[in-house]
Amino acid sequence: MREGFLWSASTSAFQIEGAYKKGNKGLSTVDTRHVKKGTADTKFACDHYHKYKEDIALMAELGLKAYRFSISWPRILPDLSGKVNKEGIDFYNDLINELLKNNIEPLVTIYHFDLPQILVDKFGGWASRETINFYEKYAITLFENFGDRVKKWFTINEQFVVMFNSEFNGMREFENQIGYEKLVYQMGYHMTLAEKKAMKKCKEIIPDAMIGPVAAYQLFYPATAKSEDIMAAFDAEEILSYYLLDFCVKGECNEYTRKYLKEKGVYPEMKMGDEEILKSSSPDFIGINYYFPLTAEFPNEREKNPNFPLFWNSDRYSVTKNSILKPTEWMPFGFDSRGLRSALKKAYIRYSIPLMVTENGVAYSEVIESGNIINDDYRIEYIEGHLKECKKAIEEGIDLIGYSPWSFTDVLSASQGFSKRYGLVYIDRTEDDLKEMRRIPKKSFYWYKNVIKNNGNNL
Ligand code: BG6
Repeated sequence: MREGFLWSASTSAFQIEGAYKKGNKGLSTVDTRHVKKGTADTKFACDHYHKYKEDIALMAELGLKAYRFSISWPRILPDLSGKVNKEGIDFYNDLINELLKNNIEPLVTIYHFDLPQILVDKFGGWASRETINFYEKYAITLFENFGDRVKKWFTINEQFVVMFNSEFNGMREFENQIGYEKLVYQMGYHMTLAEKKAMKKCKEIIPDAMIGPVAAYQLFYPATAKSEDIMAAFDAEEILSYYLLDFCVKGECNEYTRKYLKEKGVYPEMKMGDEEILKSSSPDFIGINYYFPLTAEFPNEREKNPNFPLFWNSDRYSVTKNSILKPTEWMPFGFDSRGLRSALKKAYIRYSIPLMVTENGVAYSEVIESGNIINDDYRIEYIEGHLKECKKAIEEGIDLIGYSPWSFTDVLSASQGFSKRYGLVYIDRTEDDLKEMRRIPKKSFYWYKNVIKNNGNNL
């Protein structure tokens, strides 16, 4: 890879920290969501809050050049008073300093799914413009406290997922009501305004910083070579992957998508002065979260699956099975490493700004084998395949600045519990037995270490 390539690994606060009420932390939507009995929740997660030094020592052993983590919003601003929680600031100061001591660059996600519950209770969360101001204030607090050391920032992790997923946006009671889809687009738009304000402030407060979004980049393949399926895949990408990114990078929605969403009655309402906010800043780079492609076909009632999320079916496309890609334990649609190169090419050609792969990984329900080892050859195969495609993308002219697999350690899954493991490092706990949470590097850890040591030249 090129000089200075950011060899990284990713996590997020609620999925690793635990200590969910410790240090004056407030609760967030992911703390209050309903979790099935016997399934892990955010209370302890990986206990990273107490074990962060041990985790950073492992990052140093791995040879990471950078580490992508998120800051817990309600740990910094636990209530509506605006008073900054010193214990929260202290925790992240220690974390950042420990990373720098180990020559690991901190890559900070400002907001990764954990919206303060108090904002939902008081204002309806992202349904209200009030939350825009709270997010801006929160971002400014981070820039002012950590900006002397943190030079790469991510605004919102997977805005599209947050706007649709009521577990994250906190609007559970509205989910099955008529009008939810309209509300979803309005919430998404408010996040766009919040992100724009944060990007502007970032430039003012830390002039030498880079800032950008983390997109849940959803690549689509057409189910067949029929022109209607090809068009369905095109529309699915326009709506699911580019609608928000266009707002973020270009400050506007293209006329094609706007007309479609207006006709459906879900296009967000805008106010006087918004135009100015939308054009007031733009990102320096884009984080791409890519796990697997989906396959689209011309919408077909027969194929509609009520279990699919709302956004997987529309009158322009339906998600369907792909007979070529093999399902894995937790990926029913399979994966395709070449898809990552397609995603990078498409995003780069559309936006012409640097990209970073901020998440990419595969989950399995692993157990420790005798001799304290975890032989995760499937993970090596997955990451190796995707990294080779990154390399080819760079050779083809794509400005890719780094790669950050999901996840550094096993984490509490965002949608399931602890059985779904993505990490390079095993955390010895089960759904309901915390044990001692020993950290055990998996086979993939040693493999990735060797790749980093060789700067990817051995791929
Ligand atoms: C991404 C999120 O959507 O996917 C992560 O940014 C999440 O937070 C990851 O963990 C995998 O999803 P899940 O639901 O399998 O944990």
